[in-house]
Amino acid sequence: MSKRLGLPNLGLGLGLRNQHFDHILNTSPEVDWFEVISENFMDSFGRPRQILKQIAERYPVVMHGVSMSIGSTDPLNFHYLKSLKALADEVQPAWVSDHLCWTGVLTTNSHDLLPLPLNEESLQHVCGRIKQVQDYLEQPLIIENPSTYASFKNSDIPEWEFLRLMTEETGCGLLLDVNNVYVSSFNNDFDPVEYIQGIPHDKVVQMHLAGHQNMGNYIIDTHDREVTNPVWKLFQMTYQLASEAAILLEWDGNIPPFEVYHDELLKAKKFMDPDFAGIQEETQHSEYEQVSNPLNVVPLEIETEVS
Ligand SMILES: [Fe+2]
Repeated sequence: MSKRLGLPNLGLGLGLRNQHFDHILNTSPEVDWFEVISENFMDSFGRPRQILKQIAERYPVVMHGVSMSIGSTDPLNFHYLKSLKALADEVQPAWVSDHLCWTGVLTTNSHDLLPLPLNEESLQHVCGRIKQVQDYLEQPLIIENPSTYASFKNSDIPEWEFLRLMTEETGCGLLLDVNNVYVSSFNNDFDPVEYIQGIPHDKVVQMHLAGHQNMGNYIIDTHDREVTNPVWKLFQMTYQLASEAAILLEWDGNIPPFEVYHDELLKAKKFMDPDFAGIQEETQHSEYEQVSNPLNVVPLEIETEVS
């Protein structure tokens, strides 16, 4: 398989948020591409879907999902996959991504991206499901590393090694969330540099950046503020190893005006320079703010029907 699966480097992109719909349509800002949360548009045939079609005519678009539940032991939800594929047929995204996680079991959707044990059994389970999804969608799936708050006693494969084996077995690509690596490393006490060095860099199709909330002895992946300096520094190192990946800044809570969001994204250009010393000032936030969720509509319920 060719570098980054032969997929294009789209440049610097932003998440498409409904607060910014009018601004984007009225001003056509100079953003390289947009990432959309698939579930916010899959079963919406009203204004949001029409707006997405207009934006997709002007910008490259990537579809990013939160409900595939690729790690679940429930059967794959082909009702969900059918809707996902229909949206992809309409929008023609550069690629389709989701997370290495499970979101529910026995038809209950937790609406959380839950971690799974990382061992040979779960690797084979996940790889088999990724192959099924790729066959159904007729395109490679791009899988994101989740932010985690717990690890499992029966995990015996480091996450970075799990991702490498997963890409080798399935041909899938990686969405490397640099903030998630930092959050998980803090919460689970591993070295984020070893993680970054250990992943297959030629399989990194896209990266995520986002802000988080440091609670002192743990970090919550809030996506509601600027990227922190440690994450920018980790990105700076990562970019030298996977410099052709597309970059995306996530911001899902306390969403600022479009220009503020865009300016934060453009800081990434500075950190693409390996010699950039970093930003001295960091915005201070009060703690104990509400934790955000990227979904702005009620997500699909998991159905177990298999076709
Ligand atoms: Fe992410």
